[in-house]
Amino acid sequence: MPAYRAPRGTRDLLPPDRVALARLEHIGADLAARYGYHPIETPLFEQAAVFERGIGAVTDVVEKELFLLQPREEDGERWALRPEPTAGIVRAFVQHGMQTWPQPVKLTMTGQMFRYDRPQAGRYRSFWQFDVEAIGDPGPAVDAEIIELAARFYAAAGLVDTTIYLNSIGDAACRPAYVAELAAYYREHLAELPAFEKGRLERAPLRLLDSKDERVVALNAEAPKITERLCDACAAHFASVRAHLDAVGVRYVLNPYLVRGLDYYTRTAFEAYPAGDDGQQSALGGGGRYDGLVELLGGRPTPGIGFGLGLDRVLLALEKAGVERVMEGPPVAVVVGSDPADTVTRLRIATELRAAGLAARAELGQRKLGKQLEAAARDGAHFAVIIGDELAGGHVQLRDLEAGTQRAVEVASLARELERAAKSHHHGVGEGA
Ligand code: HAM
Repeated sequence: MPAYRAPRGTRDLLPPDRVALARLEHIGADLAARYGYHPIETPLFEQAAVFERGIGAVTDVVEKELFLLQPREEDGERWALRPEPTAGIVRAFVQHGMQTWPQPVKLTMTGQMFRYDRPQAGRYRSFWQFDVEAIGDPGPAVDAEIIELAARFYAAAGLVDTTIYLNSIGDAACRPAYVAELAAYYREHLAELPAFEKGRLERAPLRLLDSKDERVVALNAEAPKITERLCDACAAHFASVRAHLDAVGVRYVLNPYLVRGLDYYTRTAFEAYPAGDDGQQSALGGGGRYDGLVELLGGRPTPGIGFGLGLDRVLLALEKAGVERVMEGPPVAVVVGSDPADTVTRLRIATELRAAGLAARAELGQRKLGKQLEAAARDGAHFAVIIGDELAGGHVQLRDLEAGTQRAVEVASLARELERAAKSHHHGVGEGA
């Protein structure tokens, strides 16, 4: 047992996993750019109040899961690691006066989030999100555009079977009356509620709607539905979001029980799950509209909508679905030599190749040529540059390790030859050994 280990609920991403994550980051950055979202980066920690106010003091994320940082001084600021990106991005929107920029302001961020949750499969204390936010557009067209972007991300990542659940949770005009009606309904059935849900009833009655407890699920079947209580403006907005989604061919499942775990949402709410698996740890992402958040954090009233996709969960789902990892980097050359001691020449030639933009490494150990070549093959190198006696005449051997072919190349034109060989790698580098 090593003395030090990664903290509980976190994990190291070793090269194959980090490469797989980098691929997702790349897909996200590429899609975001194509849809007109600009990258932003906010600090990993904020004043705790940004999250307490923004996300809501009686949400699980704030009440139970916030990573609070111990202040170093008595009167120190209360800071917390970010549990999600939206509150920080909206804080930045207000701080930098982005309401004077052309609206909407479309921003994207990918990074680690921190929630002090009970660790389990798919639920980590440090996890990655790909996030987009469109601030300043009341929708409904942008709502559909953002949901379509999420769907496109999953498809591009290789998850073909993703279900998107959609709901509208109303706004300040219609939700309070609905919540009161819902709470009254649960109170009528208090005896049927498990203790945990009884506890949540008075503080967050909406959360009972997405309870997985069988007794609550049964109760919910008869509970009043928010979609039947929307005010005219919310109902029209919801209908239009659906019409836009239909127009761009996004498939979704209406789910009147879908409520989100953060308080800032209004109207459109959605979540994505792997098909056939809507367990609590399985959500691949979620988002929605937050028309009151900018004002809540001190800005002028400004509507907004966004989503956060859980990249760790996407990786897990890809693994489960048996989607193979693609680890293709550029074809790599390894510089080896017949004189084990001559590390200078090997390092020099590899340095020149890298300076020319190629992927190359030198054998810097002092083992025999046969071992050097074996190691290169084990590493999955594509080419070996072999230095021998011919170097005196300005030549080295260039070997295609896969094809097993080899030929003499002038050192002066090695980079060019290697580049050409890399382009036609699968056809070998020349006419035989
Ligand atoms: P969220 O639903 O709390 O929304 O998180 C989004 C996604 O992050 C989840 O669907 C899940 O895939 C992933 N996730 C959350 N917690 C964990 C965890 N402990 N371990 C692994 N993955 C996790 C938000 O965060 C909102 N900011 C989304 C949003 C953006 N709404 C509007 N704009």
